[in-house]
Amino acid sequence: MTVVGGWQPPAYPYDRLVPLRAAADALPGGVVDLSVGTPTDPPPAVVLQVLADADRGSSLRGYPPAVGTEVLRTAASSWVTSTFGSSAFVEPDQIGACIGTKEFVVTMPGWLKLRRPGRDTVLYPAVSYPSYAMGAELAGLRAVPVPVDDAWRIDLSSISSEDAARALVLWVNTPGNPAGGLDDLAAAAAWGRDRDVMVFSDECYAEFTWEGAPRTILGLGGGPDGTDGVVALHSLSKRSNLAGLRVGWYSGDPEVVGYLREVRKHAGLMVPGPAQRAGAAALGDASHVLTQRVLYRDRLERMRAILAEGIGLEVTLPRGGFYLWAEAPGGDAWGLAERLATQAGALVSPGDFYGSAGSAYVRLAMVVPMARLEVLAERLGC
Ligand SMILES: Cc1ncc(COP(=O)(O)O)c(C=O)c1O
Repeated sequence: MTVVGGWQPPAYPYDRLVPLRAAADALPGGVVDLSVGTPTDPPPAVVLQVLADADRGSSLRGYPPAVGTEVLRTAASSWVTSTFGSSAFVEPDQIGACIGTKEFVVTMPGWLKLRRPGRDTVLYPAVSYPSYAMGAELAGLRAVPVPVDDAWRIDLSSISSEDAARALVLWVNTPGNPAGGLDDLAAAAAWGRDRDVMVFSDECYAEFTWEGAPRTILGLGGGPDGTDGVVALHSLSKRSNLAGLRVGWYSGDPEVVGYLREVRKHAGLMVPGPAQRAGAAALGDASHVLTQRVLYRDRLERMRAILAEGIGLEVTLPRGGFYLWAEAPGGDAWGLAERLATQAGALVSPGDFYGSAGSAYVRLAMVVPMARLEVLAERLGC
């Protein structure tokens, strides 16, 4: 059957890197893949133990609760307070599980639109994770990028009153992917409350905040527990090197979280039972996160030195997250990506993957062991 007309999915960003990957891989020792932010370090041992014993508590046999098991949501509730402090308390009933957060990012606008048909716009940072815009597009909504300032923070003052009046959702992401900016989350919460716009705060890199303490929007949004009009999104993918497990959760405004929990039950969006058990175990362990922080920090600093010494490129360290965001000479990001692939065998992501406002930069994900960064150093003669 030929399907004609209608919406055509754009090329998936990383599929556009196939020629550069081949060029990098042609070097002896092969490609050093810094393109996708997919962790490669081991997850905590406690998680592997729980997975090896997957049927304990019959977590394999029955359907898992779509909202998340009591055990997972209680672990998430405790983690919120231990990570962000007592003002950020959320009850387990204000939490819902998702199958990794990308799934939530792209499905949520459509569900919310059903509830609020008078609003048709998703606002998101102009340099950001591409799924915020894709979620709008998949729901037939307007995706409107909001400019970022020179520290890569969302500039709320640049949102027009027309866009604000049509907005269903405002996305913020702290620390930000790709540029590592730290937003003022209290200002974002207040902006949304004043305009009756739901604010969704993607905090999946929270524990990799390098300037100050981890930030959350929970506890800042008004109402008795500070969650009015705000929902925070968290994931085990980056925190615990568990991107393959697919466990995330959303929490905050009781009414909106309650609505999404009910819709998602009907849609059959369930985190597999053994993954929920393993996720709860990961949340109970903080020591592996401390180890991971050191690994990322060391790699960021080493890669920054390699770029400076190897090709004379000066890069600022991010305020959070595990990406280097490097401005390309002459603004030619694809040229820099090609040079890094052919000369060093490094595969990086050109910044237009994250919006046209990022098109003069490339992103380097520090997800490979230090030994692979040393391969790059050697190739560049450092
Ligand atoms: C900002 C941001 N949000 C969400 C995700 C999705 O992560 P996951 O679906 O693994 O939870 C990513 C992954 O790269 C990300 O960078």
